[in-house]
Amino acid sequence: EQCVVAVDGPSGSGKSTVSRRLAATLDGVYLDTGAMYRAVTWAVLQAGVDLTDPEAIAKIALETELTIGTDPDAPHFAANGTNVDAPIRGPEVTGAVSAVAAVPAVRKHLVTLQQTIIAAHKRIIVEGRDIASVVAPDADLKVYLTASAAARAARRSAEDATDVAATEADLARRDKLDSSRTADPLRQASDAIEVDTTGMGIDDVVAHLLELLNS
Ligand code: CDP
Repeated sequence: EQCVVAVDGPSGSGKSTVSRRLAATLDGVYLDTGAMYRAVTWAVLQAGVDLTDPEAIAKIALETELTIGTDPDAPHFAANGTNVDAPIRGPEVTGAVSAVAAVPAVRKHLVTLQQTIIAAHKRIIVEGRDIASVVAPDADLKVYLTASAAARAARRSAEDATDVAATEADLARRDKLDSSRTADPLRQASDAIEVDTTGMGIDDVVAHLLELLNS
């Protein structure tokens, strides 16, 4: 029997670290859907396309050949044969990803890819904003990780060595962009279990999710 876990939450909620750890513990795979949007954004920037032109963005998205790593210990990504693990975490991609992810044809294309990958695995932890609501509505467990804004900014700036205040401002900017969509696919799924991770360590969160999965 297949086991699918959907993990969602705002930037810096710890969802990537927790998802990878949970996948490794369950001897399953990990799918980072945010990295897919980021890799497409990298290709769009590389092509020099106007970010206010949805048709041009969609064309690049459909043409880009993605290599999507699902190993929780080494989830490497490539676009058109180029490894993009570093640039997809950089400020240029982070600054443009919300605009690219807002293009309906981009979402449609990536959601189909995500569903194909999910169907091919026995145990998979899928991380992303619309997994519980759109991509895998029948997931066995749906969790929404939260943390205080300060805790989220502190975690993210510890990861990438940026200034906490600047990070907190950028997270607030993206949260606002992501939640101001007309057909808001990024809203917390109504049937997801919310876990506030402020003050919790990674191991505590993973242990809690394992309990939820087995209950
Ligand atoms: O850095 P952070 O954890 O916030 O985000 P991410 O998971 O790497 O996703 C980056 C961006 O991709 C988000 O800000 C969304 O705009 C978009 N995204 C999306 O629209 N749908 C998803 N399933 C995953 C990400």
